[in-house]
Amino acid sequence: MRQDFPHEPVMVDEVVDIFATVPQGVVVDATLGGGGHAEALLRARPDLVVVGIDRDSDALAAAADRLAPFGVRASCHHARFDDLRAVLVAAGHRPGTVSGVLFDLGVSSVQLDRPQRGFSYRFDGPLDMRMDPSGGPTAAELVNGLPEAELARLFVANGEGRLARRIARHLVAERPILTTAALADAVSRSVPAPARRRGHPARRVFQALRIAVNDELGALARALPEAVDVLAAGGRCVAISYHSGEDRLVKAAFTEAVTGGCQCPPALPCGCGAVPRARLVARGARRPTSAEVERNHRAESARLRACERLPIDEDG
Ligand SMILES: C[S@@+](CC[C@H](N)C(=O)[O-])C[C@H]1O[C@@H](n2cnc3c(N)ncnc32)[C@H](O)[C@@H]1O
Repeated sequence: MRQDFPHEPVMVDEVVDIFATVPQGVVVDATLGGGGHAEALLRARPDLVVVGIDRDSDALAAAADRLAPFGVRASCHHARFDDLRAVLVAAGHRPGTVSGVLFDLGVSSVQLDRPQRGFSYRFDGPLDMRMDPSGGPTAAELVNGLPEAELARLFVANGEGRLARRIARHLVAERPILTTAALADAVSRSVPAPARRRGHPARRVFQALRIAVNDELGALARALPEAVDVLAAGGRCVAISYHSGEDRLVKAAFTEAVTGGCQCPPALPCGCGAVPRARLVARGARRPTSAEVERNHRAESARLRACERLPIDEDG
């Protein structure tokens, strides 16, 4: 692992393996981070170039350093991945000709472990959580500004169960909450004792706020169909997700691409004229090996799905 950006890329052998057969050309690394996956791909396939995207300029700077030895084969772009088509065009590549798109979702270990970024209940820092600190609302603005019912809805939508309303009520009573330690403490005190014994009770609340602050699910839902659209025939889209909300979106977007949106009863021939755009590379989601999980605890919740673009009918 690199000392300047200590993030261990997840399922890197599986990613390299899935991209082993794609046509030569451009791979978009839509979540470049410190460039671990990108470096592995550039090493494994000398006929590929990588267009890297990240909304976090600290990550981009680390990736630019790491990928410098590859010269013009790697470029780094400060953008959101739902703008991947515009990034491609600006970098001089035609949509529809791309060999691969990779999403390694969520946050990096570096983002989580820097207290000043405000992502983690394990450290004290400002309640920020923006992947791109140059704009958009902070977690503090949501915690201190949203009505109680909206806070509760946000916690429910992003994984907090039946305690969501109770936690939201408690947080509203404790406002203003300005630091990660203050939030973690307020959440801990808001839940009954048994809930405190199942891991840190603030874990899901922090995740829910991070997802909302960065509009993670909205950006992913917009980006996935674009990613399939920009692929050339034989090009592949790979997505690694870390929680069920992300994985559901990946599965739905790939199913839509594979069926062309066909809703006809499975027992009958399709009569709706839907045109499949892709095939699944493997059924279901792949999981990391137990050896990888042992080495890198962050890999534990990873689920990898992949699809391959079918030959494109120019009339369709
Ligand atoms: C898990 S890390 C990727 C690590 C990377 N694969 C590596 O090998 O170092 C996820 C990265 O995606 C970025 N990211 C998340 N959502 C994004 C979005 N909507 N647009 C652009 N970058 C995003 C985060 O800033 C973070 O750096």
